[in-house]
Amino acid sequence: MKFLVVGGGAREHAIAATLVRAEAEIVVASSNANPGLDRLAATAARLDPTDATAVTALARKEKVAAAVIGPEAPLAAGVADALRAAEIPTVGPSKAGAQIETSKLFCRELLKRHGLAVSPRWSAPASVDAVDAAIEEIGGPFVVKPSGLTGGKGVWVQGSDFDDPREGAIYAKSTLIQGGRVLLEEKLDGEEFSQMAFVTDDGVYPMPAVQDYKRALEGDRGGNTGGMGSYSQRDHTLPFLPAADRATAIDILRRTIDALRAEGIGYRGILYGGFMLTARGPVLVEYNARFGDPEGINVLTLYEEGDFADLMYGVATGRVDPNLVQFRLRSTVVKYVVPPGYGDRPRPGGVVELDANAIEAEGVHVFYGSVDAAGPGAVRLSASRGIALVGEASAIHEASTRVETSLRHLTGEFYVRHDVGTKENLAQHVEHMRRLLAPGARPSPLPLSVAPAAAPPSSAGAPDQLIG
Ligand code: AMP
Ligand code: GLY
Repeated sequence: MKFLVVGGGAREHAIAATLVRAEAEIVVASSNANPGLDRLAATAARLDPTDATAVTALARKEKVAAAVIGPEAPLAAGVADALRAAEIPTVGPSKAGAQIETSKLFCRELLKRHGLAVSPRWSAPASVDAVDAAIEEIGGPFVVKPSGLTGGKGVWVQGSDFDDPREGAIYAKSTLIQGGRVLLEEKLDGEEFSQMAFVTDDGVYPMPAVQDYKRALEGDRGGNTGGMGSYSQRDHTLPFLPAADRATAIDILRRTIDALRAEGIGYRGILYGGFMLTARGPVLVEYNARFGDPEGINVLTLYEEGDFADLMYGVATGRVDPNLVQFRLRSTVVKYVVPPGYGDRPRPGGVVELDANAIEAEGVHVFYGSVDAAGPGAVRLSASRGIALVGEASAIHEASTRVETSLRHLTGEFYVRHDVGTKENLAQHVEHMRRLLAPGARPSPLPLSVAPAAAPPSSAGAPDQLIG
């Protein structure tokens, strides 16, 4: 089967590699020449992946059986709609469905309209004048979120990105002045996890849960990034995540898809729930309409038993054989090799020499992100995440050690978060959750569902009822 893979990062390299393991043929549509992806491809076309006309023309010319869209930007640009209009089955929601990611305001209002009490307290001040009162109403530490796409880097969290509430207020106001919408949210305390699922016309099929490390520096310091590394655990939960809380998160994904359907928005693709496990259970931080990067790389590494080409074709056409949704019972760790200064002031252009064969021989997989080939065995880093190294083992910390060991096959100037998935780091996450759940500390969980908001969608939503 021939697939079009749209996008040129490490996540798309992993998607293509998983399809190739299922003997699929690959056509790539990306603006960059990804050395790993291009090597796997029968055809690698250089084009703007958000150019719906160009992507569709390529898919037609190559007579692909289906397309898989990796990043959010083509979804936001309606590339999935254009492909479907050209009768090319596509993994990835329509522009309307992708709003769940591309508009944080749409997402919070949708949940509210359908009585899904899974949000922190939030509001969306309609004007600069309303910002101070909205912050006061939250009455504690808060988070400022531009509503639109920001590449995972636009969110400011009090205590990390700013201390003085006035700074947060200025950021919110400047977003409004620039013509964007902004959300103010109560700051949640807990452990974050990503729960992704394949979504078809009649089913939501969960993948293993993953924890992403968003902050640039070890010890969760530094700026918010798209993700520096991530891990998944053998049993598909996480060290701090009880199976029952994961099941709640999966239930929230299902109810959200039902909510979209009730509004006439079908969804074929990947739904990614970013959750915070709090003292009251999982709270929805954000939705994405695609595989996480790096989280998708963790789970794709575990997909070996079934036939990924059949699975992707099934998602694209709206129905899958549930037996195809199988992930091995192993732990995985991804660590991203990034340019020095990444997350704040990246210094691009550094050359990294690597012996990919030696790394693979140690059982660690190499997926290329934002790099250019720089001669045999060398790549040049850009300002973004460069190379994803994936280790797997029985225990998470063993997978982490595998990646660390493989780093001796890389030389050059780069940065890696060594703490991803180490024993000490995992213990800190578990201890954090244990403190929050200490006897007496866990308030009784609130029902997921409350009476749906009676009023039509309002832009300054009253707080949802799960928290506070
Ligand atoms: P988002 O783009 O909504 O995923 O936000 C990026 C990151 O900001 C999340 O992964 C969290 O680490 C943090 N964040 C977002 N919303 C909240 C919240 N309400 N409370 C605490 N942290 C948050
Ligand atoms: N790693 C976070 C994301 O893919 O948005």
